[in-house]
Amino acid sequence: METHRKIVEKLKIMGIKYQEIDQRAAKDRSVDELVRVTGMKYSEGMSTLFFRTEKGEYVVILRRDDRNVISKVVKKLSGSKSLNFAQESDLEALGFEAGLVSPVLLGELQNSYDIKVYVDSKVIENDFVICGIAKEGFGLKIKVGDLLKLLGRYEVGEITEANEKRQSGVKKRILTGDRPTGKLHIGHYVGTLKNRVLLQDEYDQFVLIANIHALSDNSDNPKMVKESILELLCDYYAVGIDFDKTTVYIQSEVPEVHEIFMYLSNFATVQQIMHNPTIKTELKQNSMEDSTPLGFFIYPIHQAADILCVNASLVPVGKDQAPMIEDTRELVRKFSKTYGVSSLNEPEGLYGAQVNVPGIDGNEKMGKSLNNAIYLSDSEEELRKKVFKVYTDPNRIRATDPGTVEGNVAFIYHDLFNTDKEEVADLKKRYVEGTVGDVEVKEKLFIAMNNFLTPIREKRLEAESMKEELLNKALEGSKKVRKIARGIADTMKEAMLIKY
Ligand code: TRP
Repeated sequence: METHRKIVEKLKIMGIKYQEIDQRAAKDRSVDELVRVTGMKYSEGMSTLFFRTEKGEYVVILRRDDRNVISKVVKKLSGSKSLNFAQESDLEALGFEAGLVSPVLLGELQNSYDIKVYVDSKVIENDFVICGIAKEGFGLKIKVGDLLKLLGRYEVGEITEANEKRQSGVKKRILTGDRPTGKLHIGHYVGTLKNRVLLQDEYDQFVLIANIHALSDNSDNPKMVKESILELLCDYYAVGIDFDKTTVYIQSEVPEVHEIFMYLSNFATVQQIMHNPTIKTELKQNSMEDSTPLGFFIYPIHQAADILCVNASLVPVGKDQAPMIEDTRELVRKFSKTYGVSSLNEPEGLYGAQVNVPGIDGNEKMGKSLNNAIYLSDSEEELRKKVFKVYTDPNRIRATDPGTVEGNVAFIYHDLFNTDKEEVADLKKRYVEGTVGDVEVKEKLFIAMNNFLTPIREKRLEAESMKEELLNKALEGSKKVRKIARGIADTMKEAMLIKY
């Protein structure tokens, strides 16, 4: 602690601007863990490595966290035969605790100790680095130019090589979310759920349950929103989202989102929101227009804040969400430019299958309010009923009439869910010729869709008996996200000069 105080004092005396980075969400002090919880890049981290030579001198190497030291080169540069990591007692003599060192006092320490400092030339390529500040749970973000001013005697050299694992092993952080306004349907599956299951191994995935957003146009129905959270959790489990790999969390448990929203709101205009096509169509659909609740109107900025809460770099969503992602990118860009911040990601949208899944009635959109959805939780009986109601070719009266396949919902579903492609091709051919009836087309569609839904339905039943456990997982996830979001909000405050 004493050392930390000295560091802060030194930085102040030298007039050096710096940021303390909140790393308290990390379970340990490893670089991998810091990368995981703070979303920093390996190349932004810098470690201060203390070695001792056979002659008892200290050799300190400052290297980027995406690099490995080539000890042969350092030995040669420093003229020493052996290099060993400094012992805990050595570090204590210098005022440090193991794992909590800092480069800030190196210049001063050189006055009393024999310390050679080597700076990895890759460090010099950065504008800033995140390094130690000798305080548990915190890091120091400092401009490289300022860091060098603190060093006293040092040499820059090509003393490192790429750390392959850290070049390739970086898991990008992704965030996606749903509004809890009912159960999920096959449109959600095709548009985003399928992607999430595929992505959860390769990425650090977060799934947000946007209950505050759900209330923005369902303010009179809080019970429905609350109950829908449990439905969503069951649906997630049913399609194969693994709660240990994916962090599922609840929006209202992370109040930092409102803070970040407010900071972003200075960079959005009323006009921009009005032109957001998602808002535009929803306004029309809900015939709200002038009486639109402000809470709904500000949705795009609040969604941008959701994404910033975990500083996500990828957002897998249905293509209807593309304008939301574009707005987010613009807000982040404007904020970062205004305050010279470089740590906030401009997120990319990742869009699911570019096919639209129409409702069973032929409506372009499938939705609860339209009463035209096939739910992941539908029983076999419900599925059969719905499949037989599916909108086909309205001009076709008899099975012998030549029919149209394009825009025919039965065939759109066949293409999406029937794995027997030959059967689909044969049905299409006969439909156009007028040699197959709607009943056969639908019977085969029912079988195909039931094959798809059966395993999901079974897992969903299992989930029904684990609701409490799943909710607890989501609350745990919320705690984790809250810590990350606090770090982001503080970074923004720092940038805006409102952090005290
Ligand atoms: N707007 C999204 C929807 O209607 C839900 C959502 C809220 C979301 N916040 C998000 C999606 C953040 C992705 C990222 O489906």
